[in-house]
Amino acid sequence: MTGAASTTTAAAAAGDRPIRRVLGIETSCDETAAAVVEDGTTIVSSVVSSQIDLHARYGGVVPELAGRAHVELLTPVLADALEQAGSDHTGRGIDGIAVTHGPGLIGSLLVGVAEAKALSMVWGVPLVGVNHLEAHLFASLLEQPDLGWPLVVLLVSGGHTMLIEVTAPGEYRLMGGTIDDAAGEAFDKVARFIGLGYPGGPAIDRISAQGDPTAYAFPRSMPGDGYDFSFSGLKTSVVNRVRKEPDASTADVAASFQEAVVDVLVTRARAAAADVGARALCLAGGVAANSLLRARVEQVCADDGIGAFLPSRALCTDNAAMVAAAGHWRLHHGDRSRLDLAADANLRLVSTV
Ligand code: KG4
Ligand code: ZN
Repeated sequence: MTGAASTTTAAAAAGDRPIRRVLGIETSCDETAAAVVEDGTTIVSSVVSSQIDLHARYGGVVPELAGRAHVELLTPVLADALEQAGSDHTGRGIDGIAVTHGPGLIGSLLVGVAEAKALSMVWGVPLVGVNHLEAHLFASLLEQPDLGWPLVVLLVSGGHTMLIEVTAPGEYRLMGGTIDDAAGEAFDKVARFIGLGYPGGPAIDRISAQGDPTAYAFPRSMPGDGYDFSFSGLKTSVVNRVRKEPDASTADVAASFQEAVVDVLVTRARAAAADVGARALCLAGGVAANSLLRARVEQVCADDGIGAFLPSRALCTDNAAMVAAAGHWRLHHGDRSRLDLAADANLRLVSTV
């Protein structure tokens, strides 16, 4: 993965003031978020407005509704984050702006990108577009600024499941990914099927505490010899089992499904960490909030004598503090986006150093 985002230049404009406080803006999916982070590691304010209630009745995120909700919510969320940071609509004390410009829902991304450009122009501070996936990686650095390298990051969210070797901030190598559903997507689809509603991950996590994880031996699919994942067979297997056995305990089905997902994720992540001699295994993305996944990763890392970095739950799911942290690092290294910064629904994670 090499190459640089086309809208980003590596030349900091002469006369920029030192980058200390960065405003982050995140609108890639169904969370409208703004945060102010100081020196890339201190969260001064972080406001997240979730649209879960809006989308719950449809069983998933409705892109058109998400875009419109961001338009309504972004102004108050921004005002709140700025006020909590002792700033205001003039951008007093803000040295730069970071915004997620992909990947994500195009209509949602555009809302944040347009706002960030306008504020950058009016306040006269530099702008940088941030990759949402890179932002998730930086969530760990917010809490553990002295992470050692190389790291293997298991990035598991609603849209992505990836194993990434990080040799330094900005230097990424994709080791494997899902060939069908993302882990979070599997949690959400299975939860909907067994009547647990949306979002499915937290609901399955909760109910699994009352279930027997050995009740059903659901398949563990590990395609190929490398580090890829596949969850669609597991999902189908759960659906078939519940159709055959409609009275099956929901808690047992949920716990057995969660056990299968976590087993596969941890097995492959552990092997990837050993393969590259990683000093630590790091979790990122919404599914990293899962209790069983966190416990297992801690356990295998202790067994293997490597570090385990588990961002706090609030930093696993979408937020703008991680965007500001990634943006701070990029701005500090001279990255600047122009005012023609585009939103890119399919933006890829590339090494840019
Ligand atoms: O990173 P994120 O907030 O948004 C995306 O970028 O996708 O991840 C959302 C995903 C959803 O699929 C949600 O069900 C899942 O993360 N999730 C969980 C848990 N909390 C959120 N999955 C399993 N266990 C959880 N506790
Ligand atoms: Zn995310």
